[in-house]
Amino acid sequence: MRKQSIFALFLAVGLLALAASGEQVYVQCAGCHQASGAGVAGAFPPLAGELPRLAAAGEAGRLFPVKVLLFGLRGPIEAQGKPYNASMPSFGWLSDADIAAVLNYVFTNWGNDKLLPKGFKPISAEEVKALRAKALTAQQVHEQWQKLGLK
Ligand code: HEC
Repeated sequence: MRKQSIFALFLAVGLLALAASGEQVYVQCAGCHQASGAGVAGAFPPLAGELPRLAAAGEAGRLFPVKVLLFGLRGPIEAQGKPYNASMPSFGWLSDADIAAVLNYVFTNWGNDKLLPKGFKPISAEEVKALRAKALTAQQVHEQWQKLGLK
């Protein structure tokens, strides 16, 4: 009994150490999108303000950033009123849990939480896993952006 509880404690500590927080994962995004989420005009789109705009475009908009991380994004878009036409590399090598965590961080950081539509559901690792199976190209992800009707 005692041995089992010690084992359970180690397991819990180990799992906590494995699951990186969204903020930790975001370190890998900040070089382009900046720690402030403001991006760099003309090069890297802002995530501050823009993520709630995606969420407001319905379920396809809420799940769009998951596809960007899994498969990348290539093609002209518009964010916070400015055009961008570059390429975002895929982060598909991140785990489903890390992709969910970093996206929930960007959906709720920099005041984005106050702009989210009512009843916004955080991204779950299960949703990431299901979308991973779609194996889209970065261009196909761009076609999905166009269908959101944000421009
Ligand atoms: C090497 C630079 C770079 C890195 C690193 C990067 N991105 Fe991007 N990201 C871009 C570019 C460039 C675009 C726009 C691509 C285009 O113009 O089609 C973009 C687009 C996006 C979009 C879509 C924005 C919109 O307005 O539709 C999201 C969401 C996003 N990135 C999130 C992230 C997250 C989260 C990370 C970290 C895991 C990350 N990015 C890392 C360069 C980067």
